[in-house]
Amino acid sequence: MISDAWRREDCYVDGAWIGADSGETMAVTNPVSGAVLGHVPRCGRAETARAIAAASRAFPAWRALLAKERADLLLALADALLQEKAALGELLTREQGKPRAEAEGEIAGGAAFFRWFAEEARRVYGDTIPSPWAGKRVLVTKEPVGVVGAITPWNFPHSMIARKLSAALAAGCTMVIKPASQTPFSALAIAALCDKVGFPAGVVNVLTGAAGPIADELCENPAVRKITFTGSTEVGKSLGARALAHMKRVSMELGGNAPFIVFDDADLDLAVQGAMISKFRNMGQTCVCANRILVQAGVYEAFAEKLAAAVRALKVGDGLEDGVQQGPLIDMAAVQKTEAHIADARAKGACVLAGGARHANGGTFFEPTVLAGATAQMLIAREETFGPVAPLFRFETEAEAVALANDTTFGLACYFYTRDLGRAWRMMEALEFGMVGVNEGLASTEVAPFGGVKDSGMGREGSKYGLEDYLNVKYALFGGLGL
Ligand code: SIN
Repeated sequence: MISDAWRREDCYVDGAWIGADSGETMAVTNPVSGAVLGHVPRCGRAETARAIAAASRAFPAWRALLAKERADLLLALADALLQEKAALGELLTREQGKPRAEAEGEIAGGAAFFRWFAEEARRVYGDTIPSPWAGKRVLVTKEPVGVVGAITPWNFPHSMIARKLSAALAAGCTMVIKPASQTPFSALAIAALCDKVGFPAGVVNVLTGAAGPIADELCENPAVRKITFTGSTEVGKSLGARALAHMKRVSMELGGNAPFIVFDDADLDLAVQGAMISKFRNMGQTCVCANRILVQAGVYEAFAEKLAAAVRALKVGDGLEDGVQQGPLIDMAAVQKTEAHIADARAKGACVLAGGARHANGGTFFEPTVLAGATAQMLIAREETFGPVAPLFRFETEAEAVALANDTTFGLACYFYTRDLGRAWRMMEALEFGMVGVNEGLASTEVAPFGGVKDSGMGREGSKYGLEDYLNVKYALFGGLGL
């Protein structure tokens, strides 16, 4: 059982491993079987306040380090993550359910973020602005925002922390992290590796426990200067409003309802390959998942047939077994939502081309599903399913595709397939989303800005834009110096 090498059952605060004041714990289970993997502390407001105090004490010395010194620690962490990729990947699969190869890919992706931001840490440049006054100088510098509170989801238990923490640390911020209660072990493993490579006490703190009280303290404690959250739009709006009431900066990576558009002139095999990765990565539990697959009438039947064949061939099972491509869903609520979307679509005229029901493995396993005949009136067109269901919508013209695609309150990711260069540019400009895949079904990388518009949130993660979210701009006017 190699994954136990990095499994910690305590929280990491101020460089020490602690339990909850009350002694209470929460069980962490394997979604494959419901078996208990271990327990973590159920912390509340008081422990969170102490973690914030530790992060505040650590902040002045951390921001004062040379950028290269912070970068060296980030690089050491990236190396340690890669060295422990197999163990960390197994731990992630056991608490979250995704196949081992995806889990290891997530750890490698997290390491890439730490490496990227180690490099960016040394490029936090300011400006000098030509002065409008004789004898004066206008200067702009950038400073870390301070202590950051991060609240992260269960679908990417490692990389959602890596994205936030890497940029924050590079900028000179310190952080208090509250991971999802379903998947705390991957978060505590990051803390253990931070400890191992020598991050100073208080720079990185990870607290498990009840979401409400921890979030209340993070939003209301004046020492926290920024809240970063990945999760549902509903929770994001509430957290954002509370953080703004205390004038904290916010970054919000929220829900999506991605259109995946296949035009008549698309390379259909490439489009099927893209739809498979976009829809079925992590069993359809990603915010950037293709939620609505819009197919032009001329290739609708051919595309549907090819996609259904590929979906029927997916191997479902325990993510730790060789060759498994689809694990269980995170919990029964996820199964019920997926079922409800399929039932609503069928009642309104959709037909099942593949899957459509709970899987014979039982528990939270669900058959990867393709639905034909989906329409804008169905729940599946309006809400994020967050499950392995690919609904196919038929359209006739480019204008209709744009109107259908933009007919959502969300604006995170979108995808389209065409070989017409003019159409590619028109579509890229017309789609109201933060990220566009052109003949690509997966666009996430540390070098490009990840984030959305509309109800999908604000702020960006990754790239030079991601670093700006952890920096304040300061303007200084130098006068009276006889210049
Ligand atoms: C997500 O936020 O759900 C997707 C993350 C990714 O594509 O890396």
